Amino acid sequence: MPEQPLPVLETERLVLRPYSLADARRIQEMCGDEAVASTTLALPHPYPDGAAEQWISTHAESFRQGSEVTLAVTLGPGGLVVGSVALFLKPEHRRGELGYLIAKEHWNHGYCTEATRALVGFGFRVLDLNRIQATHFPRNPASGRVMQKLGMAREGLLREYVSSRGVFEDLVMYSILRPEFETAGKAG
Ligand SMILES: CC(C)(COP(=O)(O)OP(=O)(O)OC[C@H]1O[C@@H](n2cnc3c(N)ncnc32)[C@H](O)[C@@H]1OP(=O)(O)O)[C@@H](O)C(=O)NCCC(=O)NCCS
Repeated sequence: MPEQPLPVLETERLVLRPYSLADARRIQEMCGDEAVASTTLALPHPYPDGAAEQWISTHAESFRQGSEVTLAVTLGPGGLVVGSVALFLKPEHRRGELGYLIAKEHWNHGYCTEATRALVGFGFRVLDLNRIQATHFPRNPASGRVMQKLGMAREGLLREYVSSRGVFEDLVMYSILRPEFETAGKAG
């Protein structure tokens, strides 16, 4: 169980930091975009007023309980919030599940890959995870590409695994194990 506050992670171009209530409007803007919401599992659409504030208020406690690490993706110190990354933790299995989104106007600049690589590193090296997994809809190949660029292995197709807006949809499951991440880091 982490006893530290949520971390700040720095990459070449990005700072991943805890959200504050001042970010609520920006979250509503990013998550309220149908292009972003339609390929995620958890986002309500339309995104309700007050939901961002409520969501932010859960982050510190979820991290303290060891169930979740959620961070804003920003363009450098004090910079614009361009996305969100999270690891949902199952400590009993030393396993994490990755979630992420990037605001549409910032897609295809490598931000998601750069941010999630830092979070996966935190998961393995600081949280001592053994496995990190992620899923995407087959109709969302950009997300699958992020998983591939992270060095994840495609495990298979989970048939009609979720009901999304009343429609059963398949999910593609990817994962990476700790030694694979260390090896990929040394190679790259
Ligand atoms: C998925 C998402 C997070 C990717 O963010 P991003 O910052 O654009 O990702 P990156 O730039 O790091 O990588 C995207 C990769 O997908 C590729 N890509 C983009 N559109 C694609 C498509 N239609 N088919 C195949 N690949 C595609 C890009 O070319 C890039 O790969 P490359 O570096 O090899 O060229 C972003 O599209 C998003 O927020 N979508 C809505 C929310 C969502 O789907 N979240 C994930 C739920 S599983």
